[in-house]
Parts: sequence; C-alpha cells; structure tokens
Amino acid sequence: MAFLELDGLTKSYGALTVVKGVNLAVEQGKLVCLLGPSGCGKTTTLRLIAGFVPANGGEIRVGGKVVSSAASTVPPEGRNMSMIFQSYALWPHMTVFENVAYGLRLRKRPAGEIKSRVDTILAATQLSKLAERYPGELSGGQQQRVSLARALVIKPEILLLDEPLSNLDANLREEMRFEIRRLHDEFRYTTVYVTHDQVEAMTTADLIVVMNDGRIEQAGSPEDIYARPETEFVARFIGGTNILSGTRLDDRTVSAEGGLVLACSSGTVGPSGHTAVSVRHHDIELSRTRPAAATNVATGTVTRQIYLGSHRDYLVALPGGATVRTVAPVDVAIPVGGEVWLHFPPEHCRALAA
Ligand SMILES: Nc1ncnc2c1ncn2[C@@H]1O[C@H](COP(=O)(O)OP(=O)(O)OP(=O)(O)O)[C@@H](O)[C@H]1O
Ligand SMILES: [Mg+2]
Repeated sequence: MAFLELDGLTKSYGALTVVKGVNLAVEQGKLVCLLGPSGCGKTTTLRLIAGFVPANGGEIRVGGKVVSSAASTVPPEGRNMSMIFQSYALWPHMTVFENVAYGLRLRKRPAGEIKSRVDTILAATQLSKLAERYPGELSGGQQQRVSLARALVIKPEILLLDEPLSNLDANLREEMRFEIRRLHDEFRYTTVYVTHDQVEAMTTADLIVVMNDGRIEQAGSPEDIYARPETEFVARFIGGTNILSGTRLDDRTVSAEGGLVLACSSGTVGPSGHTAVSVRHHDIELSRTRPAAATNVATGTVTRQIYLGSHRDYLVALPGGATVRTVAPVDVAIPVGGEVWLHFPPEHCRALAA
C-alpha cells in the first residue's frame, strides 16, 4: 500500500471541473513532481491534499487512513503536513531561528527540544550562521532555505511544495534544485512538489506526474517520461522534440508528410489513420551529404541557423511542409537557404498513438 493515495479525486469551482478524477499513489519517502502547464490543476491538487479546499469527489488516504472522502474530512491542522508556497511567507519581525522554531512552539514542544531540533535543521540547510538575522536581511535563496527549514523542522508526514523556486534567479534556482534533492535524500519526507519547469522536475523527482487539463496524462520515472512519452502532449511538454504527423504503414512504420518514411523502434503506431512520431532535436543527424541509411532520410532547406557556442541550432523545412528543429556541431555551418540531409535514426523515433 502506498503512503499517500489519491483515488478519483475531483474538484469543481461552480460549473468548472479543474481536477478530474485523479488517481495517484506515492510510496513513503518518495518525492513526486506534479508537472504541467499553467492552469492544469497542480496547485488545486496540492491544496486538496493539504485540506485547504474541500474535494467534490474521491478519496485521499495517508498511511491507509482516510483524510478526505464523501463521508468525512480531516481539517488541515489535523493532517501532519507542511506546505511551502511560492512566496516564502516568513514572519518579518522574527529572526531566522524564531521563524523556524515557530511551528514547534505552536505544538508546545519543550524549550530544549525546540533548540536542538532547530539547530539541527539550520545546520542541514546551511543557515546556522544566519540564525539571528531577520528575513529582510537575507537574500532570496536564503529566505527560501528558511521556508524549507521551517517546513522540515516539524517532521511532517507529507511535505507539499508549490513552485518553491519560482522567485529565484536562474543560477540560484539551479543550485536550490540540487539542494532540495539533497535535503530529500537526508530526511526522506514523502513529498509532492509542484512545478511547471521540466528540468526542475527531472532534477528532483523519483516520480514525475504530467498533468493536463485536470487529468494525469502520464506518470513515470524522469527517464520514462523523457524517453518513452505515451502521448503527443507529454512528448511536447518535456521539451525539445519534433512531432511529425503521418499515417500508418505497419506496426512500426509511419508515412510522414512529403513522402518521408519513418521506421520507429519504440512506441505504438495507432491502429489506423493519423499517427505521429516524436524525435528529439539532438537525435536528428544533419549533414551536407546523403547519409548511408536507406530509410528515415529526408532533404530539406535551412530556414534558420543560430550559433550557440557549444552547438548550432537549425530549423529545416522539409518538402512536405513540416519544419524540424535540430542541432549540429559548430563546425557544421550551413547558411540559410542551404540544402541539407537529415537522418532520423529509428532508435530515436517514437510512434505516438493519436
Ligand atoms: N478559488 C478558485 N475559484 C475558481 N477557479 C479557480 C480557483 N482556484 C483555481 N481555479 C481555477 O482552477 C484551474 C486550476 O488552477 P490551479 O491553480 O490548480 O492551476 P495550476 O496548475 O497550479 O497553474 P499555475 O501553473 O498557473 O500555478 C484554473 O483554471 C483556475 O483558474
Ligand atoms: Mg499553481
């Protein structure tokens, strides 16, 4: 039995249903990322788990105990969870130490225990030297650490994080991703982490759950989601792919626009009619001369080429009207208007059922 279970979870605001029968099982001590575009229901799902909004249907269980169902709902204060929001919501008039100690004082823990637990968590989040500072005297990243420390110190059964890094600049965000994963490995709280940033999800998560319009589109390990997307939505959302539409030739072969025949080593070609093939930008081989391969080859015209230091980024128009994006080493410099050959290796072509 999983530690956190969502079973047919549903939430509507008036006539609008924003969480549509979500089923999810999170094992104890795992970090799961809810990933999806703006408005797909990530925050609402988190708020349902925390108990801040009531569900319209379905059940939430923690450790086998029902915390939300049609029959009964446990209020947020009765669920041993910590939620961190995008804004850190620190108390400005309290020091770092006092901010972190607050939740323990509320729970009336003895002073000695509070001191030792806060000291431990401040050391783990590298805040010991800043314990007597006020939030106004901290950088954004340090404030984010304080909000993490404050959530961790109460030893929550479940830790809920809603876009915790979105207020940080790009460098700090990258550093904090690793930090969150490191802290997770140290404390192993069952965590639900909401983000719309795929790199953040891939860095931190044991399990990624891709949401689309109130539903779970696919759940799997970062590698599953990236290498084996099941739908066009997931392939597109986990960035950097080309989707070529076409029709079925057989179980593993698709006829794409412009007479391009694509053999696909993975995925499922739909039983009939329209289907699509996903192939990542960096998996397409671009060359000036015809590749040796017999299939999965096309010619095209360069419509954009950008020098990016480590590589060149190309847009190539195919005769059928499709445009594909690919990358090439910097020494392959073909100007706009130039003719090129593209090879789509079958092992990198994934058929997507329509
Ligand atoms: N209190 C509310 N009343 C009415 N509609 C709401 C309310 N809260 C959220 N919604 C709607 O529910 C849908 C899902 O919202 P939610 O905040 O869960 O999205 P999200 O996936 O977290 O998006 P984002 O990435 O932008 O934070 C949206 O269409 C939103 O407008
Ligand atoms: Mg949100």
